[in-house]
Amino acid sequence: MVFSTFIMLGVLWVARADSNELDPPSYLVGYVTGDTSIKLSWEVKSSSNNTVFELRWKIGDNESSMLLPGSTGTITLKNLRVYTQYLFRVRTGTVDGKWGAFTKFTSIWTPEGVPTAPPDSVTAYNTSSFSIMVFWSQVPNRYRNGLVVGYKVCYKRADIIESVLYCIAVYALGIEIGGLKTYTPYWITVLAYTTKGEGPTSKPLLVWTDEHVPSAAPKLLSFHPTSLQSNFLGPQYLKSTLTESCVVTTSSTGSGRGRLLTIL
Ligand SMILES: *[C@@H]1O[C@H](CO)[C@@H](O)[C@H](O)[C@H]1NC(C)=O
Ligand SMILES: *[C@@H]1O[C@H](CO)[C@@H](O)[C@H](O)[C@H]1NC(C)=O
Ligand SMILES: *[C@@H]1O[C@H](CO)[C@@H](O)[C@H](O)[C@H]1NC(C)=O
Repeated sequence: MVFSTFIMLGVLWVARADSNELDPPSYLVGYVTGDTSIKLSWEVKSSSNNTVFELRWKIGDNESSMLLPGSTGTITLKNLRVYTQYLFRVRTGTVDGKWGAFTKFTSIWTPEGVPTAPPDSVTAYNTSSFSIMVFWSQVPNRYRNGLVVGYKVCYKRADIIESVLYCIAVYALGIEIGGLKTYTPYWITVLAYTTKGEGPTSKPLLVWTDEHVPSAAPKLLSFHPTSLQSNFLGPQYLKSTLTESCVVTTSSTGSGRGRLLTIL
């Protein structure tokens, strides 16, 4: 027992003798204290008046630095970027410019924020008299501030003042909005959101639904097969040709109620 205690004291003595005033702090830890702030702590061995710490923090390839008195073992950095990986390290030095080695890097991510720009290149056009296609590109990388988990497409009629705003959550880069009113202008916007919230909406686009195709299916009101047959190659063509003729004919009336006027 006495012998083993002696050995341990010997080991401690050796470790003590090897340690140097300029050795890096034995730990450097940090945690997030807000969306854009991180608190860091490191070991202060002896607060002598002629030692200093240099704290460095790196984003990508850019490293910033700060000098702190040798008695300081904690600091809170504020106004950091959201959703960014920061790599921190500390070294000990003397006021007359001698420096020890750095600690290993401590990596800390700041939390996600909301996007600070809308999706890029928002485009919209009518695909029929009751539908509008909308598509867009991602929010530019530097404005995402997190993982974009979805988009919100909103639309409302532009021809009446108190029109209802409808919004749809979309997980792709485009959507066809259906069930719209024929030959009607709509305002359309798109925004991106992260788990933290929504980003700004895109500049509203004004798009009209088309006027040509009636919204109700054409209905055949009168039909005289005997008089038609002479106009066609044969009875086997009658059905498809009739269908086409109905659409063509009713489109020109735009009434939404089909009527067979002529067969070409
Ligand atoms: C450090 O500086 C303070 C004030 O300047 C002084 O009172 C103190 O004795 C100094 N300590 C050492 C270890 O030199
Ligand atoms: C590094 O700094 C340069 C110049 O200030 C800047 O253009 C670049 O975006 C920075 N890189 C990162 C990852 O912050
Ligand atoms: C609907 O889209 C078609 C095809 O792009 C276009 O020719 C037509 O002018 C559009 N209608 C309206 C009312 O904008």
